[in-house]
This record gives sequence, structure tokens and C-alpha cells, in this order.
Amino acid sequence: MNVLKQLRDQFESALNSYTDDAPQFAAMIKPAGDPKFGDYQANCAMSLGKQVGKMPRELAAELVASVDLDQLCEPLEVAGPGFINLKLRDEWLETAVNNLVNDERLGVEPVAQPRNFIVDYSAPNVAKPMHVGHLRSTVIGAALYRILCSLGHNVVGDNHIGDWGTQFGMIIYGYKNFLDQSAYEEAPVLELSRLYRLVNQLSDYHAAAAELPQLRETLAEREDALTAAQQDADPKDKKAKKAVKQLTNQVVGLKDKIQAAEKKIATVDGDAKLKALADADPNIATAARNETAKLHAGDAENRALWDQFIPLCLEALQSVYDRLEIHFDKSLGESFYQPMLADVVADLQAKGIARESEAAICAFVEGFEAPFIVRKTDGAFTYATTDLATVKYRIEELKADSIIYVVDARQGDHFNLLFETVRKWGYTDVELQHVSFGTVLGEDKRAIKTRSGDPISLTWLLDEAVDEAYKIISQNDDAKPNGAELDDAERQRIAEIVGLGGVKYADLHHNRESDYEFNLKKMLATTGDTATYMQYAYARVCGILRRAEVDRESLRKSGATIQLSHNAERQLVLALLRFPEALTQAAAEYRPNYLTDYLFKTASVFSSFYDQCPVAKAETDKLRNSRLLLCDLTARVIAQGLELLGIHTSERM
Ligand code: ARG
Repeated sequence: MNVLKQLRDQFESALNSYTDDAPQFAAMIKPAGDPKFGDYQANCAMSLGKQVGKMPRELAAELVASVDLDQLCEPLEVAGPGFINLKLRDEWLETAVNNLVNDERLGVEPVAQPRNFIVDYSAPNVAKPMHVGHLRSTVIGAALYRILCSLGHNVVGDNHIGDWGTQFGMIIYGYKNFLDQSAYEEAPVLELSRLYRLVNQLSDYHAAAAELPQLRETLAEREDALTAAQQDADPKDKKAKKAVKQLTNQVVGLKDKIQAAEKKIATVDGDAKLKALADADPNIATAARNETAKLHAGDAENRALWDQFIPLCLEALQSVYDRLEIHFDKSLGESFYQPMLADVVADLQAKGIARESEAAICAFVEGFEAPFIVRKTDGAFTYATTDLATVKYRIEELKADSIIYVVDARQGDHFNLLFETVRKWGYTDVELQHVSFGTVLGEDKRAIKTRSGDPISLTWLLDEAVDEAYKIISQNDDAKPNGAELDDAERQRIAEIVGLGGVKYADLHHNRESDYEFNLKKMLATTGDTATYMQYAYARVCGILRRAEVDRESLRKSGATIQLSHNAERQLVLALLRFPEALTQAAAEYRPNYLTDYLFKTASVFSSFYDQCPVAKAETDKLRNSRLLLCDLTARVIAQGLELLGIHTSERM
């Protein structure tokens, strides 16, 4: 049961007599910012009043008279310029919360109209070990997948793995030229990724050497221009100031680029073996590209190598997914769509959506300078072509109503072009969403990397998190007033839950669009908005129940009920009843952080309840049972909420 939805539905009926756009105004009912004003507040009378030419207070009074909320709310109040304050009735709250006591779904009802969702998440480019960059899509996508399922939608989680890209040309080239056979036999994916990095490094070396003179020249030019601009600049002239700023940014950017290129060159020059390889093979980039082209053209030898590599790569990915408990219903990678691409391009051309331009075939989208290239000059299909085929397949074969892409914000332009092209192609009913997210930053506030400049391996990072969690758990356990309670195996088990939970939660509790800094200490802190805090809160509630020696299951079945005798209880009940609201909100905007916010608030509301209301020592048995039931319900809401985010809990910590 979703309280907010009930209130909005009531208001919507009343609003219908004033506007065609009732849902928009009903959506202005929000939880009240300050409990002084009640539990919820409706602000719609102000903006609607303006629209229909009525005084907001007068309109608010009319709305109050026409909604039927007597069962649910205390008499509604109009306040200030036309706010409507809603306070839920205590009797109603009691009935509603008691309905949750034996409700496994904790009040979360399936939506009236389930939709067919495809959640496209994780989707790493295989043959490189998974790194931190893959964490966000995987963790956010899996959380959204579970949240949508919990609301009763039909959801297909699809891992659109990059198994057909240019990296295979590099690996094949590396395999043919630089393979260390025994290393391959021992740890194939490690060796493949070494080959990938080696070929990449050698290609980059030549590319850097080739572009460096031009970069230096441009830098000198910009520096001169900057000096000149600084000399001329009149401090009051805004335009001139802006020009100086622009030039300064360009100079900084160029210096960064030069530094990066110099570093690439120096690394190879400083290593005799690498240098010899580089000198022996100045055209390595072209050679690797040719291997990709041969693979795509159906060359038997390259195809056999690809068939040999793919299962190994998938196995390596699976070990990370197993550890993070990530599940997919389908893993239709890019290669799956290859047989469909020629038809896609032909169809787009036949419908006049794509046409030839400078020997490539492109779709053009209004408002975008860059074309959407579906076939390159050399005849190769692109990431874009594959995504178009994928949309078609998902709509026609998987019957998708909504496709959500949990992908890095840097691919925003790609998805804008994709979605527009799909619409023109005739698929107008499907919801297409780029659920975009920012970058994981290192301490230097740049995309997180190892010191050698490689991305950080996800497995390594998860191990670090678990190690750190182990230390925290041991310290806390050792410091317990009656001595340590956990043996080593138990500490290890909890460390895994806390370590992985901490990393996942840190990724989920930010506004997904913002970048965030990867900081294990912060992620695992026992105070503040962290999984560790939530997990300790859960364990604390379980501890209260354990010490009171209640069997939770029997208590629920005993007929004991929750009653409101204190405002802190009322606040807690209200919070517990809002679980469905939080899920609905998270699903509506594809934002798991609405759920983390909710859980964090609920934990703090519980804290103040526990500070103010004795539980085990409550004055009467009735009150004691009521409060124990509240503890039980709080624990269940926290655990279930965290589970939806992919985070486990432990009753003891
Ligand atoms: N493999 C891509 C990458 O690593 C992400 C794919 C996302 N999904 C999609 N349908 N384009 O950048």
C-alpha cells in the first residue's frame, strides 16, 4: 500500500474538475518538509490557481471540501498562501502498520499495469579484465532490475557484452606474434589481457610519437596567444576575460596531452625489450585493425581464435558476477546481432532514414552535428548499427515496452542519436532511457587508475574492501564491553558482506549522474550514509530482539499489535509505511539513491525511537510487544531494502 499514491489518487479525482492535467498537479503532493505541517503537503493550489484564475486559498478550500480523505487523514488544513496540510490519522496508521506485521511484501503491491522492461547493464567489453569502470553499470543496473521486479514488472536483464569489437584484432595480433604459451595455459585470460595491453601500448607508442610534434607546435602557438591576450586584456572587458580563460584551459589541456604522450613514449623507451618490439613493428596498429577486419569478414583462422577466446573471457567475467551475485536473464552480446546488421542498414536506407555521405552510410538527426554512422567507409558496421539491431530485436522478439540502458554518461550523445533514429525508424511507443552515470574518481579527482595508468582491477578492489572490512569488524568486536563475540570464520563471513556491501552502497547512494571519489575508508565508515552503518543498524535491532528473547516469528503470529503511544513511535510507523513509496520513486526515475536515502532516514528515525522509547523494559507487556513488533518490522524493512540493492545483512556483527 502506497500512502502517497492514495493521497494523490484522491486529489486527482478532485482536480479533474479544474484541469485536464490533474496528474501533474496531484504530483505536487509531497512528504512535508517539517512535521509541524503534518505528514504530507499539497502545493498544487498555488500554480493551478494561477492557471484557472482563482485565489489559491479559495481553490485549496474547494479541493479540501471535495476530496474524500476522512478515513485516512485528520481534517485537512489550508495554511499560508494556499498550502494544504495533510496529517494521517493515528487509527489509520495503526491499522496500516499492523497489516504489515505478517506481510512478507512489506506493503509493496504489484503495479496495476506491469510493463516489459529490458535492463541493459554491465555490458563490459570482454577480453580485458573487469575494472572499476564496470562497477557502476553492474551495480546500478542490478539494483534497478531488482527494484522493478519487486514492483511486479516483467524484467529481462540483458548483458550486452562487447564481444565483437576492435579489441579482438589486438588480441588476435598479439596471440599470433607475442604469445607466451605457458602463461596462456596457466591463466588464459590474464595472458590475453597482457597481449591486449601490449599491442595497445605499442600502437599508442607510435601514435604518440607521431602526434607529439604537432601537439608541441599547437601548444607554443596557444601559449603565445595567451601571453598576448593577457597583455591586452582590459580587466573590465568580460569578453577578453573569457578569451583568456579559454586559452588557459586549452594550454592546460594541451600540456596534459603532451605529458601523457611523453609518458607513453618514455615507458617504452625505458624498457629495452618493449623498445625492440616497437622498433620491429611500426605498423602494428594497422596490422591489428586488419585482424579485426578479417574476423568480421569471416576469416576461418581468426574466427577459430575468437571461438577459443570467448568462453575463457566469459568464464572470467562470471567469476566476478558470482562474487557480486549479479544475475542476467540473457547475455546477448554484440556478436549475436552481426547477422542482422546488413538488413538494418538496407532498411534504414530504403526508408530514407540513412544515406550515403562521404562514402559512409549515416543517419542524420536534427540538432546534432555528428551523423549517426551505421556503415563506415571501409564497409564495417559500427557500435551504432549493432545497437539499432538490438533495439529492433528487443521490441519485436522480446516485446519490450521499456528499454533502459545503464551506461556511462560519456555515451550520452550516442544514445541521443540512437533514440532519435529509432523513433524515425517507426518505433514510437517504446520507452527508451539512458540511465546515465558519472565516473569513479581516484584521490587525484581523475578517473581512477593504477599508478602505471592501467584501470584498477575489480577483483583486486573487492579484495581490498573485504580486507579493510575485516579490520573494522575485528576492532569493533574486540571492543565489545563483554568481550569479543565472533570467531574468525564468522568475522570473515561478515567481512565479505560488509566489504562488498560498502562498495555497492557507495556506488548507489550518490546521485548517479555525479562523479564520486573511490575511498574505501569512507565507504566502510560505521557512521554516516554507508552500508556499514545500515548493516550495524540492522544488527543492532536484531540484538535488541535477541536480548529480549523473543521468537520473532511467533511474536508476529501471536496476535500482538502495534499501538501508538509516543510521537517517536508514530514517526517510525510513518517511515516504515513509506517503503513502497520509496521503491516507486526509485523506479520512476531509475534512481536507486531514493531507496538508500529512505533506508538511511528510516535507520535514524529508528535510532530516535530507541532513544526515547524503552523496548524490553516498556511499562506494560502490551507496549513491550508493540515495540518489539516495531523493531522486527524495522529490521525487515532495512534488510529487504538492502537486498534489493544487492547488499546482505548479518544479525550479529
Ligand atoms: N560495451 C559498451 C562499453 O563498454 C557498453 C554497452 C552498453 N549497451 C549498449 N546497448 N550500448 O562501452
